[in-house]
Amino acid sequence: MHTASDGPVVVGDPDALRSVLGRCRADGATIALVPTMGALHAGHAALFDAAGKAADVVVASVFVNPLQFGPGEDLARYPRTFEADMALAAEHGVDVVFAPDVDVIYPHGEPLVHVDPGPLGRVLEGATRPGHFRGVLTVVAKLFGIVRPAIGVFGEKDYQQLVLIRSMAAELCLGVQVAGVATVREPDGLAESSRNRYLDPEQRSLATTLHRALRGGQEAAAGGPAAVVAAAADVLAAEPAIVVDYLVVRSRELGEPPVAGEARLLVAARIGSTRLIDNIAVHLTPSTSAGDPP
Ligand code: PAF
Repeated sequence: MHTASDGPVVVGDPDALRSVLGRCRADGATIALVPTMGALHAGHAALFDAAGKAADVVVASVFVNPLQFGPGEDLARYPRTFEADMALAAEHGVDVVFAPDVDVIYPHGEPLVHVDPGPLGRVLEGATRPGHFRGVLTVVAKLFGIVRPAIGVFGEKDYQQLVLIRSMAAELCLGVQVAGVATVREPDGLAESSRNRYLDPEQRSLATTLHRALRGGQEAAAGGPAAVVAAAADVLAAEPAIVVDYLVVRSRELGEPPVAGEARLLVAARIGSTRLIDNIAVHLTPSTSAGDPP
């Protein structure tokens, strides 16, 4: 839609956005949406690149959604870096940035109607952050309603969020295809995250333990889910400054892990006051005991 040097069209008003996108649709263009809370990094750049391959027009939303932050969480200090965000968006072919004010998305304050994430919204991240996924799904449903994309693009880094958004799109028949993009990592394995900026140099170096633990777990896959968790836990236990919230193996849909086949190892941990999450694919192979025939 534009050349990178133009930079994205920035819109804060849903009606203005609809009219820009209406013109694109009239020309037969398909639209991909990448919802973000700003503080963009290489992980977002990969989402924009994937969106650009999947659709003709890439819309990125930049909105720090108060509804998904609990009391005492980092809403007030969440990094806001709009100028740098626009430069990265331009570099990665974003055509339109939708950056509404809070009262545009929530004109009456807390909305009366929310999207209930169901039981999966109350475990793992949802157990530590009650109401978080209700806030995420509610804003994503609104953004889907405003933008009406053919495709929504999300990172696998927030794996539980991705699974829940996929379910929401399917169960509420939203007509949006939800695509997941592999986690982007720094050279030392740390998953890209807006919250990495909170880490001091010592914590930043400690944070690489999470990925080492996931890799350790992945390598133990032949022993089954318990061996995967034990191997990852051993790596984490060597760093007492890391406070683990959960470390679990689940199916790809986040149910009970299969005996064999594709699964996911997920971790959440605190380093100082920063909470980090990460996950990795694990291929479980059925164990054969020594007495089994070959
Ligand atoms: O992953 C995020 O940045 C947010 O949870 C999202 C999907 C933009 C909703 O606010």
